[in-house]
Amino acid sequence: MTFSGLSLETAPGRVMTPRSTSERLVAEACARVGGPARIADVGTGCGAIAIAIAVRCPNARIWATDIDESAVALAQTNVRRLQVQNRVFVRRCDLLGSIPRPLDLIVANLPYLAAGTAAEHADLRGEPHAAVFVAGDGLEVYRRLVNAARTSLTATGALLLQLHGRVIVAERRELTALRDALDGVDAVRYAA
Ligand SMILES: C[S@@+](CC[C@H](N)C(=O)[O-])C[C@H]1O[C@@H](n2cnc3c(N)ncnc32)[C@H](O)[C@@H]1O
Repeated sequence: MTFSGLSLETAPGRVMTPRSTSERLVAEACARVGGPARIADVGTGCGAIAIAIAVRCPNARIWATDIDESAVALAQTNVRRLQVQNRVFVRRCDLLGSIPRPLDLIVANLPYLAAGTAAEHADLRGEPHAAVFVAGDGLEVYRRLVNAARTSLTATGALLLQLHGRVIVAERRELTALRDALDGVDAVRYAA
């Protein structure tokens, strides 16, 4: 498949196939990269977002993490395919794991849909359930990431999250407000 003009290997049914809406996350991230930058792409899947940022931002070094073994293997394949292995480092871990801090940017398109709504998402039927659905209201993984970002970003760093096709941008000082918005369940309004 093609993502952000790059030809990537996919594994339908095993690893989420990237959607073109995530190209906005790449554009928002790259708009914030001036010079050398340390970036995390959390929940990288096949590596699309991390690789696209690396190709567009030659001064960026990106740690691409995923909790899923198949995703990590596929991301590593794509990193080699696009020859960015000197600047994209794939790690299997929960969220940020023990990747080097501080980070200038954290970008993420993690699962955020409530598991109870799975029947409403026919377009996602072929995707691995755990890649897109989370128990409860669906936002728990993002809540944990916002908490981790508080202690992992530089003073001028930012967190960029994809949520329902939108990109939420929160500077480090705005993370408490974002956490409150996610707690208030009105995350979609926050993104508007
Ligand atoms: C919605 S898919 C998106 C994949 C990729 N970011 C993209 O846009 O194509 C979410 C990914 O997050 C991973 N994931 C879920 N929970 C995670 C966690 N706690 N830490 C790291 N990765 C996680 C899943 O394995 C899955 O690959």
